[in-house]
Amino acid sequence: MIHMRPNSWVSVIAASFLIAPFALAQTGGKTIDAQGHHWWQHAVFYEVYPRSFADSNNDGIGDLNGITSKLDYLKGLGIDAIWITPCFPSPQVDFGYDVSDYEAIDPMYGTLADFDRLVAEAKKREIRVILDFVVNHTSDQHPWFLDSKSSRTSAHRDWYIWRDGKGKGQPPNNWTSTFGGSAWEFDPKTNQYYYHYFYKQQPDLNWRNPAVQKAMLDVTRWWYKRGVAGMRLDAVDTLFEDPNLTDNPSRQEKNAFGDLLQEHKYNTKLPEVHEALRDLRKVADEYNSVLIGETWTANIGELNEYYGKGNNELQMPMDFLFTTVNKLSAPEFRKQIAAINSAAGWPTFVISNHDIARSFDRYGDGQHNDQIAKLMAALYLTLRGTPILYYGEEIGMKTTMPARREDVKDPIGRSGWPKEKGRDGERTPMQWDGSNNAGFSKGTPWLTVPATAKIYNVADESNDPNSILTFYKNVLKLRHTNRELREGNYVPLNQNDPNVLSYLRVYGDQAVLVALNMSGSAQTVDFKISKNGFASAKGLLATNNSSARGDIVKLEPYGVFIGQLVR
Ligand code: NOJ
Ligand code: CA
Repeated sequence: MIHMRPNSWVSVIAASFLIAPFALAQTGGKTIDAQGHHWWQHAVFYEVYPRSFADSNNDGIGDLNGITSKLDYLKGLGIDAIWITPCFPSPQVDFGYDVSDYEAIDPMYGTLADFDRLVAEAKKREIRVILDFVVNHTSDQHPWFLDSKSSRTSAHRDWYIWRDGKGKGQPPNNWTSTFGGSAWEFDPKTNQYYYHYFYKQQPDLNWRNPAVQKAMLDVTRWWYKRGVAGMRLDAVDTLFEDPNLTDNPSRQEKNAFGDLLQEHKYNTKLPEVHEALRDLRKVADEYNSVLIGETWTANIGELNEYYGKGNNELQMPMDFLFTTVNKLSAPEFRKQIAAINSAAGWPTFVISNHDIARSFDRYGDGQHNDQIAKLMAALYLTLRGTPILYYGEEIGMKTTMPARREDVKDPIGRSGWPKEKGRDGERTPMQWDGSNNAGFSKGTPWLTVPATAKIYNVADESNDPNSILTFYKNVLKLRHTNRELREGNYVPLNQNDPNVLSYLRVYGDQAVLVALNMSGSAQTVDFKISKNGFASAKGLLATNNSSARGDIVKLEPYGVFIGQLVR
């Protein structure tokens, strides 16, 4: 099938040429290049879930020295920054998202000296280190909370949210925890309830208290001074609650935990969140650091609020709307990409993470999974914006859910079983080689290594020119070396094509064409290249049976073609 282009792109490229250098610029902080771009706009980020990455002391749990030992691998892959999910002291109820000391390293992950060595070794390889700042809540074992619950008059009482119940056994209002049950926990000692949006072992901090604000800003300074290049801010939507504790509207249907579904109208996304983000940003700017946000937004308007007016909040709010496209669909992806390109700031793309099932099985059809993994890589790594790769995506790791409830480690998977099986499936150990435990650990891994590790692993895929890993390396190399892919504007092509998602990345008068076949049948597309002032598209990277000749690009099922337009 041949798709015709109704309009020429000459005018689009010309218009893009006029706006390119300025449209991409951001304000605030230091710039690093002539276009006004900051380091994080050129960087490729990689999320490391430390429990599962590499275990240096063979206790079955990954650690900081394990990460340090893999820096050469990350460099070779094409990574510029790693985001490490929480590695601070923690009772590990929520695997680190319950922090009991913000200014130390949990002994299971190593020491502060190990951390300093990791930062220094990463720096030698021009890799920056980003930490995960759990801003909304602490562990119930944090000294602040232990003091807070000790008496109604304790110094830290007002650091958390304490309220009287409505009556005996009745919490202050109807708010439910996103992890199940009431969001209020009764404390018999002081005869009041404390509020927790997540587990009851994760009490919410009271961000209305200036002492809390100061303490939290100081934590970020402490890490920036230690060489940390930024923070991924956890659960920012939940920082503030309605002080009147108005009940949330609820529906009749129940969720996996048996609670009535409710709209979190009065305990998420309050306008005060943005004041806190502006304060965190001021500190980040002092250190040329970046703030990445865990921003669950319903639309681009909400996402824009997280950039802040004048880009004075988060530089990189993650666009989770992109992950809501759960099937391969050129029109759906086109729509989301257009939306994020109209946003007020620079796009940040993820396709999975430690809370979201892996892309390999979300998009795989069971028959062409490897090809589809390459297609997805070509998509989020060639778009205008900064990608964050989740560890293991580059080798085609699949989501591997526990078979039995008793095997589940993630508490929500136990309480929500079988409707909600938790997040263990996307957190299994990194697959380094085909040996026992995939080379992750010589001990017993905290989560079972998937059987597919025998085929999908770093060692074997490094030697295979057709592997998913080799494709990732190639596309990342291209992204780093090709100015159009790194800096250029996004110009959609063939917007009515139901199967092939195609676009240009335009910088000045140069353009790269990206064509992605999101269908299971071969496609032939006439891009009318010669009518648009170019002679042809010179292949930069393509899957095996996809190519361009003159005006025509041929794509195998789920095929990828990336080509430089030449005159
Ligand atoms: C979001 C984190 O990504 C998730 O893993 C965690 O359980 C919650 N925030 C609570 O901190
Ligand atoms: Ca270990």
